[in-house]
This record gives sequence, C-alpha cells and structure tokens, in this order.
Amino acid sequence: MDKYDVRDLNLAEGGRRRMDWAVREMPVLSSIEDRFRKERPFEGIRMSACLHVTTETANLMRTLQAGGADIVLTASNPLSTQDDVAAALVSQYEIPVFAIKGEDNVTYYKHLRAALDHKPHITMDDGADLVSTLHKERREQLPDVIGGTEETTTGVIRLRAMAADGALNFPVIAVNDAMTKHFFDNRYGTGQSTIDGIVRATNILLAGKTFVVAGYGGCGRGLAMRARGMGANVIVTEIDPLVALEAVMDGFRVMPMAEAAPIGDIFCTLTGDLNVIDKHHFEVMKDGAIVANSGHFNVEINIPALEKMAVEKRLVRPFVDQYIMPDGRFIHILGEGRLINLAAAEVHPASVMDMSFANQALSAEYMLKNAKSLQKKVYSVPEAIDREIARLKLESMKVKLDGLTDEQLKYLNSWEEGT
Ligand SMILES: NC(=O)c1ccc[n+]([C@@H]2O[C@H](COP(=O)([O-])OP(=O)(O)OC[C@H]3O[C@@H](n4cnc5c(N)ncnc54)[C@H](O)[C@@H]3O)[C@@H](O)[C@H]2O)c1
Repeated sequence: MDKYDVRDLNLAEGGRRRMDWAVREMPVLSSIEDRFRKERPFEGIRMSACLHVTTETANLMRTLQAGGADIVLTASNPLSTQDDVAAALVSQYEIPVFAIKGEDNVTYYKHLRAALDHKPHITMDDGADLVSTLHKERREQLPDVIGGTEETTTGVIRLRAMAADGALNFPVIAVNDAMTKHFFDNRYGTGQSTIDGIVRATNILLAGKTFVVAGYGGCGRGLAMRARGMGANVIVTEIDPLVALEAVMDGFRVMPMAEAAPIGDIFCTLTGDLNVIDKHHFEVMKDGAIVANSGHFNVEINIPALEKMAVEKRLVRPFVDQYIMPDGRFIHILGEGRLINLAAAEVHPASVMDMSFANQALSAEYMLKNAKSLQKKVYSVPEAIDREIARLKLESMKVKLDGLTDEQLKYLNSWEEGT
C-alpha cells in the first residue's frame, strides 16, 4: 500500500488490541462479518468511508473488507481520530487511512480528497462531507457512484436538502433513521456516555445532587434516566408541551430554566438549540454550579456572556473551567461547552455502535443489490433490516421472544373478528 496518512505506524499493536476489545461488544457486526466472508457481496467494489476513526469504525472497516470491499477511510471529525487505530488499520489490515488526531482544516479536506481519489462506487458518510465534496469538486466521478449511506442527523438534513433541490446524483440510505440506530445510540449511548464525561471531568458524586437536564428528546431522556438511577434529583426543562408532559409522567419535575437555575447543582443541555443556558441563568446559579453540554454544537451554553460577567477564569482540572463571579460565586463549565461525552469520555460504547454499524454494513449491501431500482433520493433503512438487527442483538444477548401462533395471526389480520 503506497498511500495513507496516519500519525505513527508504531502505535498499531495497541490499536489492534483495543479493536479486539471493542469487537467483543459487537456481536451483530461480527455475525454479519462471518456471512460477508462467505458471500463476498462487495467483491470488486471500491468504497470510501468518512467516519470517526475509532475502534468501532475500524471493526466496521474489517467487516466490509471481509465482504470483499476495497475500502479507504478518512476522518469525519478532526478531533475524534484514534491514532493507534488508524495505524492498526494501515499496517495490520492494509486499509488505507487518511486521518491524524488534531489535523487542521486544510489537512482534513486534503484527506477527504485523498479518499475520493479512490474513485468510490459506494460512499459512507457521517455528516455528508464526502457526498458534498463529490458533488462540488468531482462531478466527473459521479457516474461511477452507485450510492451512499449516511450515519447522522446533520448529514441526513444536508442530503434531504440536496435531494429537494434536485442536486443529489445518486441514492443515499439514511442510517440515522433506523430505530436500531437513533433509539439506542441517542438514548442509551448518549445517556451513559454523558454521565461518564461529567463524572470523569469532575469526579463528583451524583447521588443527592439536583441535576438539570435541558431538552427531553432521545438524548435528554437517556441522560435523565441514568442520572436518576445514580441517585440524583432530576429536573427537566422543555419547550414542547407533549414532550414536557411525557417527562412529567415519567416522574420528573419540569420547570423553566429560570426556575431551575438557582436550585441546580449540575446542568446539562441536549437540545440542539442556542443559548439554552444564558446570562440571566448564570446570574442566579448557586456557588459551585457545574454546567455541561452534550448537544451537537457548542452553542447551547452562552459562554461568551459568562466570559464577560466573570472577573477571573482558571482551569482547575482538565476539562473544568472555573469562572469567578463578581460576588465571589464559582461557576464551572465543562469541556468548553463542547460535547462532554466526546471531550472528557469516549463517546458511545461499542455495544451501541454494534447496531449503528450493522445498519451501515447491511444498508451498503442493500444499496448494491437494489441500486437499479433506487432513485436519486434519500431512503430510510428498510424495516426488514432494522428488525433483523434487533433480532440478532437479542439473540446475542440470549434473549428469546414469542412468535405469533397461526390462530393469533388469523385473528390479528381479520376485520370480521369482534367481541
Ligand atoms: N452527545 C452525543 O453523542 C449526541 C448523540 C446524538 C445526538 N446528539 C445531539 O444532541 C442534541 C439532541 O439530540 P436528540 O436526538 O435528543 O434531539 P431531539 O430533537 O429528540 O430532542 C431535543 C429536545 O430539546 C427540546 N428543546 C429545544 N429547544 C429547547 C430549549 N430552549 N429548552 C429546552 N428544551 C429545548 C426539544 O423540544 C426536543 O424535545 C442534538 O444536537 C443532537 O445532534 C448528541
């Protein structure tokens, strides 16, 4: 292999060991890998993937390679690359990787273009950067592309906008739409890893603390559930009456942030919205309040306002900025308001990525098999794939479930049966 760009190939052995550790928690992907190895669905197919370069992604790359794919990988975020994993893929699996943790924007796009030099038949994106660069800069390559898959909400939004404009040149499957992706990834993955990030950054005891969760969507539900499980007294803030009602019925106190601000010990935003914690909230917070964010962008906490209000700021431990207010109160911001589960922890555990990446692998296979009948649109993951992944996950957990009897099937399908 002559082309790749990683930090240091000497890191490979450590990376491979961590890949092996993660794969133990990825039984669904492993069972797909076994089948792919026999059936070789991607024989002769070139793939370019733009995903977070982590142990879990490396195991997805291994699965696709077992299926015969000729694959290259570039990073979908300059900060999330695990350099040892990138080295392992290059030196132990001969998969070209273009990714270095902390690379600047110029290098990020240079790497992205290097992945496109591979002339993919299938693209695999997390944020739609590959697809958008292909459409903007490499139009001559478009006729060779059979289709793509997209991992995340932001990417799906971009792609649906392209499709609506008639600008999308090939079909894409929105992996994020699968139940076995967003339901588990956002709720259980973000729920646990956000707690993990807050605890690793601060080492505080959650039991007995008042924990304010802003936003009760998929991520907020997961966090509220986990914080309560650790003994915290959880308050939810919401703007949507239906969602707020659900939070109330789930047993949480719901109130506006202005009322929660003076009583919370720990705050975490997961709304995808702007300035959810703002100047007037900082004004009334308790001494020692801890404030974090686990939503996509670092805009949910108005840190610029806090910077102006504070008389001094100091880093008291990694990921903990202490702001000293004019009245002597301390307010703590974790991870500069960026995703705390990415900044101070390791994002989602492998067991959750097992299902997300099973969706990626099976969606790519589906794309290849059905390309002729698919239009230049964004498609949801077929329900049959979603159900199959749920079935495989349960099987790996040794959980059995009932099936319908013939009598039940007839009953459920009949409109003539009544009281
Ligand atoms: N940390 C991670 O690893 C991770 C993983 C998945 C998603 N995310 C991000 O987390 C955010 C939330 O994702 P989700 O799937 O829960 O979204 P969602 O749309 O299901 O939930 C967001 C909730 O926030 C509420 N909300 C909006 N503005 C608000 C405000 N000003 N105050 C209180 N509530 C408000 C909405 O009504 C909604 O119920 C998004 O930015 C998403 O990209 C992060």
